[in-house]
Amino acid sequence: MAQTLERVLPFSKQLLEKAVNSGDVVIDATAGNGYDTLFLAELVGQTGHVYSFDVQEEAMTSTKAKLNEEHINHVTLIHDGHQHVLNYVKQPISAAIFNLGYLPGSDQSITTHGETTWKAVTDMLGLLKKNGIIILVIYHGHDEGKLERHYLEQCFETLDPKTTQVLTYQFINRKTAPFIVAIEKLH
Ligand SMILES: C[S@@+](CC[C@H](N)C(=O)[O-])C[C@H]1O[C@@H](n2cnc3c(N)ncnc32)[C@H](O)[C@@H]1O
Repeated sequence: MAQTLERVLPFSKQLLEKAVNSGDVVIDATAGNGYDTLFLAELVGQTGHVYSFDVQEEAMTSTKAKLNEEHINHVTLIHDGHQHVLNYVKQPISAAIFNLGYLPGSDQSITTHGETTWKAVTDMLGLLKKNGIIILVIYHGHDEGKLERHYLEQCFETLDPKTTQVLTYQFINRKTAPFIVAIEKLH
């Protein structure tokens, strides 16, 4: 029988399905192997657009291959850090997703960092439409991930509850398992 409480990744997809409509502009802030980019591209459809960032050439190559297999061309792949989002994205967005940490099976030193993640989140909040969401899947089982988690938790607390609501979704009896922070823009 299926578990009643959704696991973290399916839950993040449910949130995206709720926030995103066909024709929307959205961001995958950490392309990696391209799974989220592909999911977002399907959600927004041909009339929408996905901007997908990653600092690693390897991520660009594997995401491009996935998109080509599905004949998807409404995605812009950006080989740059998500902290530079405003150089590339000018339109309102309805969602962004960050899968933090490093690419599994790849160089673990190429990982996300609290300061640059937070810069990207605040810039994307400026682009976000009312009731749009930014989802962060936080991996804190590795050393840099622990630092990033603590840094970001302090930042999230500074967000004004009049303009944003911030949810955590976490299995608190699984100490090192990834968890979600979702930020919805209210105004
Ligand atoms: C956990 S992986 C992402 C997994 C991906 N969502 C997928 O579906 O396969 C994290 C990715 O973040 C990338 N990354 C690290 N720092 C970054 C930055 N400043 N901007 C964009 N991507 C970054 C890494 O290169 C890595 O590919």
